[in-house]
Amino acid sequence: MINRRAMLFSTAALVGAAGTRWALADAPPTFDAATAVIAPDASSGQFTFEIAERMTSLPCFGGKSLPLWTFAPGQAFPIVRLKYGQPFKATVRNALTRPGEDVTIHWHGLRIPNREDGVPYLTQAPISPGQIGAYSFTPPETGTFFFHTHCNSVEHFGRGLFGAMIVEGDETEPSDADLVLMMKDWRLDPDNQFLPFTSLEAAAKAGSYGTVRAINGVTKPVYQVPGSANMRVRFLNVDPSRISEIGVEGADAAIIAVDGNGCDPIPLGTWRMGPASRIDIVMRSPKSGSTARLMDYFSREPIVLAEFTSSGTARRTDTFTPVPLIRMPYKIADRSNAERIPFAFSSTATGQAIADLGTLMGNIPIGKLCLSKKSLWAINKQSWASTDHSDSGPALAALQLGKSYIFELHNQTPHSHPIHIHGHTFEVMGSSLRTAPPHRADTVLLRPKERLEVAIVADNPGKWMFHCHILEHQESGMMGYLSVS
Ligand code: C2O
Ligand code: CU
Repeated sequence: MINRRAMLFSTAALVGAAGTRWALADAPPTFDAATAVIAPDASSGQFTFEIAERMTSLPCFGGKSLPLWTFAPGQAFPIVRLKYGQPFKATVRNALTRPGEDVTIHWHGLRIPNREDGVPYLTQAPISPGQIGAYSFTPPETGTFFFHTHCNSVEHFGRGLFGAMIVEGDETEPSDADLVLMMKDWRLDPDNQFLPFTSLEAAAKAGSYGTVRAINGVTKPVYQVPGSANMRVRFLNVDPSRISEIGVEGADAAIIAVDGNGCDPIPLGTWRMGPASRIDIVMRSPKSGSTARLMDYFSREPIVLAEFTSSGTARRTDTFTPVPLIRMPYKIADRSNAERIPFAFSSTATGQAIADLGTLMGNIPIGKLCLSKKSLWAINKQSWASTDHSDSGPALAALQLGKSYIFELHNQTPHSHPIHIHGHTFEVMGSSLRTAPPHRADTVLLRPKERLEVAIVADNPGKWMFHCHILEHQESGMMGYLSVS
């Protein structure tokens, strides 16, 4: 049971155990009420999620309560914190009341066994309203991950149904603070009621953007942080559609992990990231009394996403030198013997409707089989909309277990597409448009018309989804799967 007491206990334990570490829990309740570390049951060690509609008043809702879909009472978008090597066990009860509103939970970025991957029909039977499901795995790597459902995701994300999963144990030198910042905007009308989560026009272009910008459910939160400290900021773009270009003003900062994967520290100028991408930043907070800002430059005017205000005696006096995280023992692709596979991301020639849009767009469920609404997008000319999760058709590619591959990703559209692979991570190679410092990622942002190469070792057997993470693109065809055997 996730109860209030367990939650408070866990928060207290986190701060207590961490000693001088500042956690999100230290921040004033005006902005941290929305997120909390979720604790397992003390005796069983088991996490419990009960997915239900709950009227929730986030600070960015202007005093209104909205029907969010959440994993536990009393908290939106929870944070699960595990230690490296710690097994994770969860039961999931689907307490949604809308008929046919099935769920499964996908643990995004975690290279776990296929049966735990949480894709309806492809890896498990969906959990229907009233039913209970279970997940059990030990995260094989440290890092910053997240979890979400994998059917009708546009609406589920729109209603806030996601959470962060942090696997700790990668720091060679402990940081002085550890903040989890989840960027997700909300589609609200001027009365602060939900706008439709999608429209055909938006799904055919860049997706539906939120009208109210927020981090952890707060517009421009202000975090109190220790002065001159090394802060670890885990930034997650969990928006259904927004692309952001992240930077920091008023402090030195470096990226130390991309999608949870430790990399050689990359001095943070700006970093463009699409939906589902995460970066871990280490940042030297300004001296006591000063403020630093987390910025999004991917808009006409730069946007301040969050502020960090320093107080207290300086934690550090040395010059800022970001220290790399402990690297996980990934298999490295054998690029010289890798087989090349081209993947073309395009719009469908016809945009042919497969169902009556009048009845299927908007808030009406997309159906038992996670059937897409319309075929707008395709990968290698195959559109997921032509089929569904229960009859997924042939794989986009059949990969041989243990073999190395180079994927030639080619964006043939004038829109950006964050391309995500389940169960594996990419080694990001060269691009036709830009140079990228070496890093691994489970989601790569393909810019308009860009050609990008990634290498992978197909080391995890099963059927793995491969799709755009602009959820409206995913649900209207830019999705397929790869088989590894
Ligand atoms: Cu977050 Cu199939 O993905
Ligand atoms: Cu896309």
